[in-house]
Amino acid sequence: MDALDAIMAVMEAAFDPAFGEAWNRRQVGDALAQPNTHFLLADATGKEPLAAEDAVGFTLSRQIGPEEELLLIAVMPAARGNGVGGALLARFIADAHSRGANRLFLEMRDGNPAQALYLRHGFAPVGRRPNYYRAGTSGPLDAITYLREALLK
Ligand SMILES: CC(C)(COP(=O)(O)OP(=O)(O)OC[C@H]1O[C@@H](n2cnc3c(N)ncnc32)[C@H](O)[C@@H]1OP(=O)(O)O)[C@@H](O)C(=O)NCCC(=O)NCCS
Repeated sequence: MDALDAIMAVMEAAFDPAFGEAWNRRQVGDALAQPNTHFLLADATGKEPLAAEDAVGFTLSRQIGPEEELLLIAVMPAARGNGVGGALLARFIADAHSRGANRLFLEMRDGNPAQALYLRHGFAPVGRRPNYYRAGTSGPLDAITYLREALLK
């Protein structure tokens, strides 16, 4: 199993098809082939797994100079509520800073309970895109844009 397999295993388990947020294998493969796209895997303790098979969570992000967008974050349903998502978010923030990105963005469908996690990690809502998520069966949903700004040391 490679990183793409591990990401897709989490993707297929983690996203509710009703909201149309999940990416397919080709979309993720294309993203990983770009030099400015980064991913993280996490095992059940939130750390980098020893083997891809142990991954229960991932992030996917894209850097453009001093800005980086968290494209996706997901944890397998059975592994949630134990801090894995928070650990991934903290690792993403640290890695992005080490790459020189201090303006971190993410987009979330309105009403996603992940909002509490983002607020706790220093993200603040800065915009709304009406009817952004259209692929799901739940009807179009707005996207909320979050920004985390930090001074780099
Ligand atoms: C968002 C997500 C990655 C969080 O992973 P996690 O490992 O459960 O995260 P943590 O254990 O570090 O933190 C859990 C916190 O997230 C929030 N949260 C996120 N999703 C939640 C849910 N479905 N139900 C309740 N709380 C949720 C709560 O604030 C919770 O805090 P609490 O444990 O103090 O109640 C996970 O719920 C997930 O994969 N969701 C589906 C995919 C998704 O919507 N991703 C975000 C948009 S790209």
